[in-house]
Amino acid sequence: MDRIKIVGGNRLEGTIPISGAKNAALPLMIASLLTADRLTLKNVPNLADVNLLARILRNHGVDLAVDGKRPGVSQHLGETFHLTARDIVDTTAPYEMVSRMRASFWVLGPLLARMGEARVSLPGGCAIGTRPVDLHLQGLKELGAQIDIDAGYVVAKAPKGLQGNRVVFPKVSVGATHNVLLAAALAKGETVIENAAREPEIGDVAECLVKMGCRIEGIGSSTLRIQGRDRLEGAVHAVLPDRIETGTFAYAVAATGGDVTLEGTRVELLETALDVLEAVGASVTPVEGGIRVTRNGAGIGPVSIETQPFPGFPTDLQAQLMALVTTAHGTSVIRETIFENRFMHVQELARLGADIKLHGDTATIKGVPRLRGAPVMATDLRASVSLVIAGLVAEGETMINRVYHLDRGFERLEEKLTRCGANIERISAG
Ligand code: UD1
Repeated sequence: MDRIKIVGGNRLEGTIPISGAKNAALPLMIASLLTADRLTLKNVPNLADVNLLARILRNHGVDLAVDGKRPGVSQHLGETFHLTARDIVDTTAPYEMVSRMRASFWVLGPLLARMGEARVSLPGGCAIGTRPVDLHLQGLKELGAQIDIDAGYVVAKAPKGLQGNRVVFPKVSVGATHNVLLAAALAKGETVIENAAREPEIGDVAECLVKMGCRIEGIGSSTLRIQGRDRLEGAVHAVLPDRIETGTFAYAVAATGGDVTLEGTRVELLETALDVLEAVGASVTPVEGGIRVTRNGAGIGPVSIETQPFPGFPTDLQAQLMALVTTAHGTSVIRETIFENRFMHVQELARLGADIKLHGDTATIKGVPRLRGAPVMATDLRASVSLVIAGLVAEGETMINRVYHLDRGFERLEEKLTRCGANIERISAG
């Protein structure tokens, strides 16, 4: 298994290209199931999760061709995927695949809407919390699906097609919103989703569905009004920039000190996270084609924050923020309200010398003057990258084991950081 070795202490200076968002690329790829025509997606990041979903979609009969990059095309413009689901040959998404990536459960809505049936494995437990799917099933039932659970599979049927309806989610869920939005695009009549998640990736999927011929009002708001269509057309769509990757590098620069321009990304995708960065003492400036992050001289101040659905502070940046404030002047308080068990990075950060106390959903982080390198273990995607940030700050060598978690969601991480002066290298298992 690959490991990542970091020798901390270097400031970061330079430019980092931001990739397309994983959390938009996945549902956009799934949207290809809704049409027999070709869906072309540009700026798709090259990530393990994307490749796994490509395999799952191929299983359903989706034909996928990947374009090489043209000479002169800027590096952050990722690969172009052409996806064509002319014939769906299999409406089952098997356990072996769905259990490896939760977002693959989102094929349920589109398969059901297009084929009138789908059999999708329950995703099962996950390291960061129980993560049920009740809201997904509630939404699809409200569109007329009959749903049974059989031997660990969700078996959904709608022999006469789905029927538009009013879906009111009791709790904000990104995945349930995607699932119902995708299904509603092929349902008869109008679907109104209330208390929809407002994450920019939902907006990106909705914009793509509009290009495919679906009328959607309220994009970006918590009420989505979708006019279903009998058939959708192909489209060409570019995946929006990854706000979590943006925030991760921004926090890394704040942690080490330095001056980095994050290319190809936009402030409005992560205003709350950038406001926090300014509050701790870094400076964030929108520049043409990106965002410039600097921190010089002064140290890092403490924060008090809780994670919330968008536009609140993202749970996917909680671990990175915690790494940043381990060396703050003062005590920070971070409350995790989305996932009950998303603190696995705490004990690993403690191995580097961080002083963190956990009480239920709240972590209290007393800033220490310095971290010291140590061997640590990556436990989930965002926790892993928080260890990278801590390793960049720590004195001496940090060795991160089990980095396959990082490869699920961060494209060319070592290369992007090395270009800015970090001492980081991947040690291949060979
Ligand atoms: C998505 C993101 C993930 C992010 C999360 C929250 C992708 C691929 N993943 O995950 O990176 O951390 O949003 O921003 O985009 N819940 C239920 N019942 C359900 C569904 C969810 O109770 O049917 C709960 C979850 O357990 C959790 C909360 O709702 O406590 C939010 O989860 P949700 O927004 O659905 O997260 P995901 O879509 O799985």
